[in-house]
Amino acid sequence: MVSPGGDAPNATLCVLPWIHLCASIDGVYGRCCVDDAMYHNELYQQEEEPVFALNDDAIGCSPGSRYAKDNPDRVAGIAEAFNSPNMKRTRLTMLRGERVDACKYCYFREDHGAQSYRQSINRRFEHELDGLAARTDADGTVEDFPFFLDIRFGNTCNLRCVMCTYPVSSAWGAKQRPAWSSAVIDPYRADEELWQTLRDNAHLIRRLYFAGGEPFLQPGHFALLELLVETGNAGNVDLSYNSNLTVSPDRAMALFPHFKSVGIGASCDGVGEVFERIRVGGQWSMFVDNLRKLRTQVDVWLQVSPQRINLWDLRNVLEFARTDGLNVDLSNVVQWPEDLSVASLPQDEKARATAELTDLIAWCVDLGWDKPAADLGALRSFMNSLDPADLVDEGAS
Ligand SMILES: C[S@@+](CC[C@H](N)C(=O)[O-])C[C@H]1O[C@@H](n2cnc3c(N)ncnc32)[C@H](O)[C@@H]1O
Ligand code: SF4
Repeated sequence: MVSPGGDAPNATLCVLPWIHLCASIDGVYGRCCVDDAMYHNELYQQEEEPVFALNDDAIGCSPGSRYAKDNPDRVAGIAEAFNSPNMKRTRLTMLRGERVDACKYCYFREDHGAQSYRQSINRRFEHELDGLAARTDADGTVEDFPFFLDIRFGNTCNLRCVMCTYPVSSAWGAKQRPAWSSAVIDPYRADEELWQTLRDNAHLIRRLYFAGGEPFLQPGHFALLELLVETGNAGNVDLSYNSNLTVSPDRAMALFPHFKSVGIGASCDGVGEVFERIRVGGQWSMFVDNLRKLRTQVDVWLQVSPQRINLWDLRNVLEFARTDGLNVDLSNVVQWPEDLSVASLPQDEKARATAELTDLIAWCVDLGWDKPAADLGALRSFMNSLDPADLVDEGAS
């Protein structure tokens, strides 16, 4: 147990390293989905197959990943990865009140007026924040199984959104990837140790977040839902998603009634033509049909990634949400690719966009729509406080 001094100040601490593990689409484990040490996108830019060396600060890699061969001493299952040397060091650094290098994406957003994942997750799990030090062994070990998992069961996706990329989307991979790599990546489907660990600990799982790729196309996602139903544990589990909602949700809808709760952030970066321009391969009408069908059963909100192309369509997205009685989350501001980021707008356009955002914020405030008003305020500060050269490459979340 770490003592004395209790928990570190909230300015650096994040609850996730105590309760959560992320497993990326290509088999690298992370402190969360914006862990700077988890992404190795530069490897996929190489013409010849490179050595898949893991970042020194990464948590580890799964046995079914391409990294396993080149980093045999850092291959781990999810329970082992949760207490890997880098994860233990992260907890101790946070408890000392220091910033963690791998968490720079969150600190960067906070420093520029935008919401960070750290802030929103600390709010959601506020009750877990007290007593983290008491649950931490002197070497940083936490004995519990992580009750909140974000396992990206591969990159299968039907779309090629303009701000997304390979290896995150197999549809991007089908169009453009190095010859040595396959379009579809799925390191977990045949990982027997992972499936045994999930089965053995199914009674401890409380929350799952699914993204990808497109979760409603991932065999591993359905296999995990079915495992939880079959073992009688689904009723303890909150499910949360980001989905493009352009594929049929019927199979998932048949499983959802077994779960404690289901929330879906339906990715919506514009209305009609703007939606289709950004979410390439998707049809607005199909998105709306799927969204309205799902809403009859589970909580659905619009998940917007503000960027240059949709800055002038945010009003339409908000109007659509108001007409359909939907909440909107606009906090996931695009930083990368730089040319799509609002931070890369020329100064005169930033001035016009500032006026538009200010007007939208006033409209949201009049409607009592606090969350979109706050998100738009953060977007405005982010846009105005940044030079494109300052942008941090996050990988795509
Ligand atoms: C990678 S997607 C995976 C889940 C699903 N395919 C979807 O689109 O919702 C998760 C979220 O990341 C967003 N996203 C994609 N590329 C991004 C980028 N470059 N910057 C910020 N968010 C991005 C998407 O819009 C989506 O809301
Ligand atoms: S953002 Fe989602 S839907 Fe779009 S290409 Fe990426 S993974 Fe697919």
